[in-house]
Amino acid sequence: MSEIIAIYPGSFDPLTNGHVDIIQRGSRLFDRIVVGVLINQEKAPLFTVPERVEIARTVFRGWSNVEVDTFDGLLVEYARSKHASVIVRGLRAISDFEFEMQMALMNRRLNPEVETVFMMPAEPYTYVSSRLVKEVVALGGSVTGLVPGVVEDRLREKTLARETMKA
Ligand code: PNS
Repeated sequence: MSEIIAIYPGSFDPLTNGHVDIIQRGSRLFDRIVVGVLINQEKAPLFTVPERVEIARTVFRGWSNVEVDTFDGLLVEYARSKHASVIVRGLRAISDFEFEMQMALMNRRLNPEVETVFMMPAEPYTYVSSRLVKEVVALGGSVTGLVPGVVEDRLREKTLARETMKA
């Protein structure tokens, strides 16, 4: 039987422990999981795409079936180029569902051979999002335990750099 390759796409600005939890689950379920960092046109990302890739590669160093890559354009075309038959998305709460269902059905219409699989993160991460992590850090709060250590370090560096620029 051929191997099952899954893509886990996202912005990962920054990677959270919720993402890590889903990738860990995916790495157990599929032969290979490709973390696809979207090269998007977002106006003010906190981390550049190369920074996000470097962070994810640091976190998943030594995980033999996890690959970190970038993509732009249509996700289903990227999946095709990676010979992936599965798109993995995390579902935290009902509030995620509407947008995720729209994306899954649009992707199915674009390529019916690629199946979207939703996975739930462990309960402690059900409220964690990259957006809230950035907000909490910008306002001086702690995100210890919600993001990998390397992300916490990089967030601290960014905050210090911004404060130095303001001073
Ligand atoms: O982490 P995010 O920001 O929720 O991830 C969103 C992502 C990357 C999954 C989504 O924006 C995406 O798939 N973009 C690629 C463009 C695309 O294929 N659009 C049409 C399908 S809905």
